[in-house]
Amino acid sequence: MLALCNARAEIPKIIKNSGGGQLIVDGKPYLILGGELGNSSSGTSAQADEILPRLAQMNINTVLIPAAWEQIEPVEGNFNFNVLDHWIDTARREHLHLVLLWFGSWKNGFSSYAPSWVKKDTQRFPRAISAEGLDTEILSTLGTETQRCDARAFSALMKHVKDKDADQHTVLMVQVENEVGYLGRGRDRSVAANRLFFSAVPSTLMEKLSHRQDSWSAELAANFRPQGKTWREVFGDAADEVFMAWNYARYIQAVTEAGKREYPLPMFLNCQLPAPGERAGEYPSGGPHPYYLEVYRITAPAIDFFTPDIYWPDFEYWINRYRLPGNAVFVPEARLESSPFNALYAFGAAKAFGFSPFGVDSVRASSDDTGAHPNLTETYAAIGALKELLVGAQTSGESDGLVLHSNSPRATKTLALGGYLMTATLSRSWPAATLLVQDGAMLVVQSAPNEFYITGCGLTVTFTRDPDLDHKLGGISSIEEVARSENEWKTIRVLNGDQSNQGRQLSMAPNQVRIYHVILYAAERTPLQNPKR
Ligand code: DGJ
Repeated sequence: MLALCNARAEIPKIIKNSGGGQLIVDGKPYLILGGELGNSSSGTSAQADEILPRLAQMNINTVLIPAAWEQIEPVEGNFNFNVLDHWIDTARREHLHLVLLWFGSWKNGFSSYAPSWVKKDTQRFPRAISAEGLDTEILSTLGTETQRCDARAFSALMKHVKDKDADQHTVLMVQVENEVGYLGRGRDRSVAANRLFFSAVPSTLMEKLSHRQDSWSAELAANFRPQGKTWREVFGDAADEVFMAWNYARYIQAVTEAGKREYPLPMFLNCQLPAPGERAGEYPSGGPHPYYLEVYRITAPAIDFFTPDIYWPDFEYWINRYRLPGNAVFVPEARLESSPFNALYAFGAAKAFGFSPFGVDSVRASSDDTGAHPNLTETYAAIGALKELLVGAQTSGESDGLVLHSNSPRATKTLALGGYLMTATLSRSWPAATLLVQDGAMLVVQSAPNEFYITGCGLTVTFTRDPDLDHKLGGISSIEEVARSENEWKTIRVLNGDQSNQGRQLSMAPNQVRIYHVILYAAERTPLQNPKR
C-alpha cells in the first residue's frame, strides 16, 4: 500500500538507458500509444466531449493537445485555464493521459499563438528582421520582454497543472514551443542579433563542443572549426543556422526552467524535418535538427529529450537519427496513413517509448475499420497486448522490427534476434506470386529462449539459425495466432499446413495486424553424408 502511495506521489519522469529511455508513470514504464490532435481541435470544452471518447475507443492511451498562450493569457496577467481543465477532467473520465504542447512564442517557425497584446507591440516584443531589413511575423529570440512574458505564462501553466494534477498524473509531459526555427533567408538580422553574430562564439559553447567530439553529427564535424572566433569563422556556411540554434536554445532553456521550477514534468522539443532537398530557412533554420543538436544539448539542458516529427517517407532514417546516447526516443507527430507500419518499427526497432500520429481526431470509426488496410486501432491493440513484454525487451535488446514497402530498395529485409535470422518479404498470392500489399511491417519481442511474439501484417517471414552463432538447423516448432484478454493469452488459431507454407514460413494476414506466438527450434545437424556412397 505504501509502495503504491509512493509511486503515486512520484512525478512522471524519463529514465535514460542504453536503448534510449523510458517514461516512468506511477513507478512503472509507460508506453505512449498516442495521437496528436489537429491544431484547431482543442480550443473549446465541447470538443473534448466529442473527441476524447472516440480516441479512447481507438486504443489510444495518451492524447497530445495544444495549450495556446493566446488562450490562457488573452489579457496580460489574466490567466484562464477553464478549457484546459475540462480537457483534463474529460481525459480522466476516458482513462486517457495528456501531453501538453506549449504553443507559446513559436509554432512552426511563426508566432501566431502569441496573444494579440504581444503581436501588437513590436517595440516591447521585437520581431526577427529579415535579410531585406523588414519586420517578420516571427518573434525575435532576442526580445528580453518576450522571453520574460513567455516564461511567466508557461510557469503559470505549469503551476496550474501541478495544482490540478500532481496527485493524478493525467498530464504526463510537456512539449516546449512547437517546431521552432527561423523561416526565411539566413537568420534574424535585428540589431541585437547582428551584434551577437559579429562577436565571438561564446567560450562555454566552444569549449563544450570541442570536448564532446564523440557526439558530433556528420554535419557538425564537417562545419566546426575550433580555431575560429566569430560565428562565420567557426561554423562557415552553417553559421546562420548554428547561430539561430543557439538563440532558440537559450530562450527555450529560460522558458523551460521557469516551467520546471513550478512543476518539473518531462519536457521535450519537436522538430520540423527538412523535405528532401530543402535548405535551412526553407525548413525552420536552427530548430532541433539532428545536425546541430549538440548545440541544444549544451545550451538547453533542461530539455529532457529531442524528437522528430516524421512526415517524410524515410521514417527509419529519421527516427534513427534521434537514437543518440542519452536521448529517449519519442515521435510526437507522424503521418496518419502510414502509422500502423511506423508504430511497429518505432516500438520494436527504434525502442521508442511513444508514438503519436498527427490529426487522429480526423479518424472516424468506420474509416478506421474497413479491413482493407491495417489501422491504428488494431495496431495499438496489438502493441498494448505486448506492452509488459515490450518494455523489458526494449531495454534488454530483445525487441526488434522492420518495415518493407513495395518501393523499398530491397525486396527482403532480415533481422537477427535470439540466435535466429528472420527474413521478411511482402505478402504474395499463391501460386501466381503477385504482390498482395504495398507495405508490411513487424515488431518482434523475444519472450523466452526460442520463443517470440511477432505482431504485424503484410509480411511472409522465414526463420533460419544465425550462422554467425552456430551451424545448427533452425526451423519452426509452432505458430499460433493469439490474443490477450484479461491478462491471459488465448490461442485463436494454430497455423500449420498451407497457412505456414508447410511449416516453413510465418504468413501474416496481409491487411490486418495480428499477433503470432512463434516457437522456433535449433537442432544439431547430422554429420555431412557423402551422397555418392
Ligand atoms: C507540424 C506541426 O507541428 C503541427 O502542429 C501541424 O501543423 C502539422 N505540421 C501538420 O499540418
